[in-house]
Amino acid sequence: MRQTSLFEVRDQSADNDSNSYCQKFSPDFDGWWVAARVCLERNRDPSSVHWLEDPSCRQTAARTGGLPAEFFTLAKAASCHSNDDRWSLLYSVAWRLKNEQPQLLSLAGDAQVARLNNYAKSVSRDVHKMKAFVRFRKVDGESVRYVSWFEPQHNIVQYAAPFFKRRFANMKWSILTPVGCAHWEGDGELWFSEAVDKTFAPANDQFEDAWRVYYRSIFNPARLKISAMQSEMPKKYWKNMPEASEIPALIKQAEVRTQSMLEQRKPADKLHCGARPSHPDQLLNAKLATEKLTPLQELKLQASLCDDCPQAQHATQTVFGEGSENAHIMIVGEQPGDQEDLQGRPFAGPAGQLLDNALRRAGISREQCYLTNAVKHFHFEPRGKQRIHKKPAPGVIASCHRWLQREIELVNPAIIVYLGATAASTQFSSAVRISKHRGQIMQADGRQHLITAHPASILRQVNQEARQAAYRSFVQDLMLVETGIAHAMQRAQ
Ligand code: URA
Repeated sequence: MRQTSLFEVRDQSADNDSNSYCQKFSPDFDGWWVAARVCLERNRDPSSVHWLEDPSCRQTAARTGGLPAEFFTLAKAASCHSNDDRWSLLYSVAWRLKNEQPQLLSLAGDAQVARLNNYAKSVSRDVHKMKAFVRFRKVDGESVRYVSWFEPQHNIVQYAAPFFKRRFANMKWSILTPVGCAHWEGDGELWFSEAVDKTFAPANDQFEDAWRVYYRSIFNPARLKISAMQSEMPKKYWKNMPEASEIPALIKQAEVRTQSMLEQRKPADKLHCGARPSHPDQLLNAKLATEKLTPLQELKLQASLCDDCPQAQHATQTVFGEGSENAHIMIVGEQPGDQEDLQGRPFAGPAGQLLDNALRRAGISREQCYLTNAVKHFHFEPRGKQRIHKKPAPGVIASCHRWLQREIELVNPAIIVYLGATAASTQFSSAVRISKHRGQIMQADGRQHLITAHPASILRQVNQEARQAAYRSFVQDLMLVETGIAHAMQRAQ
């Protein structure tokens, strides 16, 4: 072999081909990219470069070389894949992006692009599992450290470590794996060390039982779907998760426990639940057979089948958005109330009446708007004969978000008005305070946004005077909608 540059060696042994290069690089994405840039600048054909990982190479990050940002996102993930051909694949794609086809990444049918996407996807699934299934055990030494053993499918330790740094910023921790280890000392920088075997990790700690108790308490036998559960939590991860030892027994007891839950169910659990509309499946098939549905109508039918949150079993029906599909104004509330649940329409009860009046005072008619909610099922607690509104949990808001997101995409309003903190949390951080952030037109994602109070909060004011003052402020906020639409129109020109 003959040295041609610091890290590049002409490979005379390989097929006796004098144009073959053995490119050494420090075995991580940044190291590979520094070396790849050298090859790209010299226009080395991908078939002539052999990639050789060499931990002794010390290379600093290079610029993007004009390749699209999307390449780096995909390539960083794919570089963690366990297949040995990943480096040559990355280089081939980089070379073709530079020399042949700048739009290469949009050609999903191209064999190399497809392989790159598959590698990146497989790595991101592995990272997702690592985030979900790493279990730390407490180790008492000079100072307390939390240590975990995890067996990833790919070389994802460095790639995934910043997530754990953010998530467990105040602890000292180590994640040990058979492909390398990551460590965090509670401040400073993450550091990494060689692979170890499982004997280096603690086998258990005093929290083990707590995990099991927690898992038993959140396990709902009535919602058990074994295949879905095993696809989300594949068996290969079980051996390193303390709570997994509970699973076989919980599955075995599920039927008996469900039966006993049904027997113990109080009549109040079914309180006021109105007559359910015809089964959504039938509704969907009948509609599809006779009518051509708009995308929004199709979405509404899909949402009527949704039972992602437990409340779907108790509520009368899904209450989807309503109004013009081309509305400039979208109004987002929290969740349907008692009346909305029974009638199947948003803002059909007392809060809706107040909203209608306030809109009118602000010069807006309900017909100009598309009205919807952050959450599509009524969440309540039975109390005597009443169903008392229960604030939806963040998990419910998150799982319902896909419906709202799609409604926004399809209606494409110029302005979205958020009524109350739950609605605002769907777009802004949960740190939003209505008193602080209401009444200002904000721009994001190419449209205007306005936060204001929820009409139910006005109805809850203690006396008439306070109610009137709150109502006036509400109308004042709604008057800004016109300004928001004007801004949107100006920006569109
Ligand atoms: N409150 C809401 O947030 N939405 C409704 O649909 C009714 C009351």
